[in-house]
Amino acid sequence: MATVHLRIGDLVWGKLGRYPPWPGKVVSPPKDLKKPRGKKCHFVKFFGTEDHAWIKVEQLKPYHPHKEEMIKINKGKRFQQAVDAVEDFLKKKEKQGGKEQDTRSTSIQAADSTAINGSITPTDKRIGFLGLGLMGSGIVSNLLKMGHVVTVWNRTVEKCDLFIQEGARLGRTPAEVVSMCDITFSCVSDPKAARDLVLGPSGVLQGIRPGKCYVEMSTVDPGTITELSQVISSRGGRFLEAPVAGSQQVSNEGMLVILAAGDRTVYEDCSSCFQAMGKTSFFLGEVGNAARMMLILNMVQGSFMATIAEGLTLAQATGQSQHTFLDILSQGQMASTFVDQKCQNILQGNFKPDYYLKHIQKDLRLAISMGDTANHPTPMAAAANEVYKRAKALDQSDNDMSAVYRAYIH
Ligand SMILES: NC(=O)c1ccc[n+]([C@@H]2O[C@H](COP(=O)([O-])OP(=O)(O)OC[C@H]3O[C@@H](n4cnc5c(N)ncnc54)[C@H](OP(=O)(O)O)[C@@H]3O)[C@@H](O)[C@H]2O)c1
Repeated sequence: MATVHLRIGDLVWGKLGRYPPWPGKVVSPPKDLKKPRGKKCHFVKFFGTEDHAWIKVEQLKPYHPHKEEMIKINKGKRFQQAVDAVEDFLKKKEKQGGKEQDTRSTSIQAADSTAINGSITPTDKRIGFLGLGLMGSGIVSNLLKMGHVVTVWNRTVEKCDLFIQEGARLGRTPAEVVSMCDITFSCVSDPKAARDLVLGPSGVLQGIRPGKCYVEMSTVDPGTITELSQVISSRGGRFLEAPVAGSQQVSNEGMLVILAAGDRTVYEDCSSCFQAMGKTSFFLGEVGNAARMMLILNMVQGSFMATIAEGLTLAQATGQSQHTFLDILSQGQMASTFVDQKCQNILQGNFKPDYYLKHIQKDLRLAISMGDTANHPTPMAAAANEVYKRAKALDQSDNDMSAVYRAYIH
C-alpha cells in the first residue's frame, strides 16, 4: 500500500493482520497507551467492530479515493455492515454540519488532495521563490527534495548558496525570477517587505506578464494583500495568497498548514508545491480571507504564549516550582506540543528563534488593527501586545516568541 499522510479525524482503509482492508477513522490514542517503537503508525478506530489498533502508515489508505475498489473486492456481511456504518457516519456528519459544513468541505477536499505523501508528482511548472528566512528555507528545501525546478532570490544573496548547492537556480532580482518562472512564491517579514518586493525597483511587478502566477505567503494584513492582488492582476498576472501556520521546525519537516485564498486555478496549479511544504491546505475563497484567518490564529497563539509566560513567572514569584507547574499543565487538557516545547525551552533558557518574537508582535498588531476596523473588541490581544512591545524594548525581537517571558522578569 502507498504511504499516506493523515491527521486525526481522517477516514481510512486500514489493513490489520489477516483481515481485508477495513474502514476506520484516525483517532487520538488513549493518553496512557504507548505508540509502538519503530515504524510510523496511526491509532485507528474501526467501523462496525468498534475495535481500535495501531496501524502502520503503509497499511493505511484514504477512504474516499479507494472506496469503490475496496467495495468491489470485499463482499463479506461484516464488511458490508462496516461500510454501512461509515456511510451513516458521513450522512450524520453532513446533517450536523449545516452552513459551516459548506466552508469546511473545501478544506477537506484540499486535505484529501494532499493525502498521499511520498508519491508527489512535482509540477512541471517552473517555480520561483523569494525570501529565504526561517520559513522560506524549509519550504524551498522541501520543494527541491520533491523534485521541483526552483529559482531562488534573497535580499541577502549569501543565503541562496546552500540552495544552489541543492540544485536551485539563482535569480538576480525578483523581476528576473518572475520572468524565468511560471509560479513565483514569496515569504518575507511583513507588509512593508511584501510591498517593497512587488513594487520596488526590479521588483516582482516588472516581471509579471499575462498568465504568470504570484503567490504571497508572508503574513500580512488584508489591506496589503488586496493591494498586491490588484497590482498583479492589473498586469494580467494570477494571484493567490497563501500564508502558513507553523514554525521553522514545522517548515523544515514539510508539515505547514497552508491557508489559501484568491485565484482557485492558481491554488490547483500549486498542488504539488503545497503537498511538498505542508500537511494540509485550506482554500478560503476571496483574497483577504486567508490573511484574516491567519491573523486571528496568530493572535490566539501570541496571546496564549504570553499567558503561559505569565503563569510560569507567577509560579516563580509565589514560590512554586516552574517544573512542577509544567508537569501539571502537561497532564491536563491544555497539554500540547506547543506548551511543552515552549516551556521546556524557557526553563532551559533557550530562546533560539523558531518563530521570531518580532513577527508574532507584528501579527498581534495587525490583528488588533483588524479588530479596530471591524469595531470588534480585542482586549486580550491588546494586553498581550503590550507585553511583546516591552520584550522588544528589552532587545528580544530576534529571539523566539517565548522570550516574551523576559518581559515579566523585573
Ligand atoms: N517563523 C515562523 O515560525 C513563521 C510561521 C508562520 C508564518 N510566518 C510568517 O512568514 C513570514 C516570514 O517569516 P520568517 O520567519 O521566514 O522571517 P525571517 O526569518 O525574518 O525572514 C524574513 C525574510 O524577509 C526578507 N526581507 C525582509 N525585508 C525585506 C525587504 N524589504 N525586501 C526584501 N526582502 C526582505 C529577509 O531577507 P534577508 O535575509 O536579506 O534579511 C528574509 O528572507 C513572516 O510574515 C512571518 O510572520 C513565520
